[in-house]
Amino acid sequence: MKSLAGQDVLTAGQFKPSVCEQLFKEARAMRTLVDEHGSLDRLGSRVLINLFYEPSTRTSASFAAAMLRLGGKVFPINEIKTSSVAKGETLEDTIKTLEQYADVIVLRHPEAGSAQRAAAAADIPIINAGDGAGEHPTQALLDLFTIIEEKGGPDGLSITLLGDLKHGRTVHSLARLLSNYDVRLNLVSPKTLGLPKAVRDDLSVSVTEHDSLESALPDTDVLYVTRVQRERFAKKADYDKVKGSYVVSPESLVKAKDDLIVLHPLPRVDEIDARMDADPRAAYFREVRNGLYVRMALLALVLG
Ligand code: NCD
Repeated sequence: MKSLAGQDVLTAGQFKPSVCEQLFKEARAMRTLVDEHGSLDRLGSRVLINLFYEPSTRTSASFAAAMLRLGGKVFPINEIKTSSVAKGETLEDTIKTLEQYADVIVLRHPEAGSAQRAAAAADIPIINAGDGAGEHPTQALLDLFTIIEEKGGPDGLSITLLGDLKHGRTVHSLARLLSNYDVRLNLVSPKTLGLPKAVRDDLSVSVTEHDSLESALPDTDVLYVTRVQRERFAKKADYDKVKGSYVVSPESLVKAKDDLIVLHPLPRVDEIDARMDADPRAAYFREVRNGLYVRMALLALVLG
């Protein structure tokens, strides 16, 4: 992909290092502009529809904030019960309708592959804001941006992915994105929640599986924590078996490097002890702020 203008954003696999570099340069410029001016008049005539079939706080709010700070307009649709979806309308028909009103659609949907389906139906850009247990490419972009801003770049780093690696779409996107760099990946998960083979097969970096966080920690520069994705379990009993099986706390990090950073796409349930928030190594709220700049940059480039 040469330029992001007019493109769909469907998978992290689209983002080669040169595209990330262009995006992150723009994100840094956005940070400066927001610090100096708060908002800009860059996308004044443009309209974004946030179409969310699943709950969201950060992703929907940060896309909305990004568009508003660029001077654009936002139209949220998340009460699916009151839309024609409740009458049985297909995703394709919903998309073909909404694109008549907007310049870009940000879509979150419970089915893997839904963003591709939407993009095939639409003439305007579709941004995948999470398709079931599939991917969440814009989260991975802000994760990578945070790793670069906090640690000076992913090259040479050892990155540990902890949690529900099976259902965690942010993990699927981040692992694919990091695979373009010189990193080592450590995987730590409950036995039943390992990284899917389809994602593993896409990775061309060194990958080591660990039984416990403790064994991965001495070689960890970035600890990426995720919650167990309760909504992806068919049976509550299966969720109950794994919930609470790992917790990152000041005690669990005793053997960690002093300059390790802890990331989390959020929301957290119980997998990061709230006492960690006061620890300067906890970078997850700085990561949230970076999401604003990265999504501003992405919208400016896609709609540019
Ligand atoms: C993630 C998601 O929706 O996949 N949240 C987010 O967008 N920051 C992670 C999660 O829900 O656990």
